[in-house]
Amino acid sequence: MKVYLDNAATTPVAPEVAEAMIPILKDVFGNPSSSHAYGRAAKAEIEKSRRSIAAYLKCQPSEIIFTSGGTEADNMALRVAVNDLNVTHIITSPIEHHAVGLTAKAITDEGQIRLSLVKIDEKGHVDLNDLEKLLQSNEKTLVSLMHANNEIGTLLPLEEVSELCRRYNAYFHSDTVQTMGHYTFDLSELDIDFITCAAHKFHGPKGIGFLYVNKNTKVNSIIHGGSQERGHRGGTENIYGIVGLAKAMDLAYEDVHAHQKYVQELKTHMINELKAYFNDLDFHGEIDPERSLYTVLNVCFPKNEKSSMFLFTLDLKGVAVSGGSACSSGANSGSHVLTGIGADMSRPNARFSFSRYTTKEEVDYAIEQVKSVYEKTLA
Ligand SMILES: Cc1ncc(COP(=O)(O)O)c(C=O)c1O
Repeated sequence: MKVYLDNAATTPVAPEVAEAMIPILKDVFGNPSSSHAYGRAAKAEIEKSRRSIAAYLKCQPSEIIFTSGGTEADNMALRVAVNDLNVTHIITSPIEHHAVGLTAKAITDEGQIRLSLVKIDEKGHVDLNDLEKLLQSNEKTLVSLMHANNEIGTLLPLEEVSELCRRYNAYFHSDTVQTMGHYTFDLSELDIDFITCAAHKFHGPKGIGFLYVNKNTKVNSIIHGGSQERGHRGGTENIYGIVGLAKAMDLAYEDVHAHQKYVQELKTHMINELKAYFNDLDFHGEIDPERSLYTVLNVCFPKNEKSSMFLFTLDLKGVAVSGGSACSSGANSGSHVLTGIGADMSRPNARFSFSRYTTKEEVDYAIEQVKSVYEKTLA
């Protein structure tokens, strides 16, 4: 049996998404910037997708800027804040995805801003009192805090942070790459300047996503070229990607509460089974369903000398999981998130991440393999 439990790294493309993309890939080849019928047909597909995505998020279509994915959208949010909004101070956390953390560091190294890192607790929750203290500087500030951590699943209370940012006149960006398509967003209510999306995290294609920019936040572009995306992002559009993204949104949101309930049950089942088997078991990050991303479970297993073989052996058994984020090469020693929350790095850890296509049988198989692999590897 092969079991894929690395859905926080990426998800398989839904068959309906592939079906929606194929005719576009085959037949709609016009350049959307061309004024003839071929171009207009391509442009129409893009604008239809944009309207559909905006309707789910309760925002205006013009607030959606298509990008090559989450990394570009995060880079763009931070860069335009500095370039166009006179931001001289960025507040972020030590456990952001590198798309934010390393961009903030690069802008700091370029001498453009002052960088502050907000305190977080051992579960990855942001210390809101510390955030408020940091906001009391007189500089124009951007707060960039992720909605859900991709390695440990801890959720940020978006509304509370938004209120704090508004109170201190700061801009607010949230990396919502792990939550878009998994939770509903009402941008007519939530006061936020930027959020980001990557289609491949919810059964859409790779290489496509978007940056939401609040209509009251006036920014230019960081990718110069043609006047695509109303001048916000040069480059001929990824039409079939955009259509695939919109279709993935349809599928994600047509039954989002049922998906949430179903996947949370799988996660709770795994928590209970593992707790019943291991005496000395811990979880990295938050596991309270109200404050934790329901697709992610980061388990900290008991200590043993041979633990470095743990993920490798699971892989041989057909169970694909990750030791942190995909970008940290499966080794928890590389995880800035686990280091950031002060985790015990000598203990083996695994991030199990689920999707609405994951079955209970697959989870049970993974649990059995964990048990047996653990016995064999660590005995
Ligand atoms: C929280 C978070 N932000 C950003 C990204 C980057 O997105 P993409 O892979 O589309 O560039 C990821 C994906 O790994 C992520 O999990």
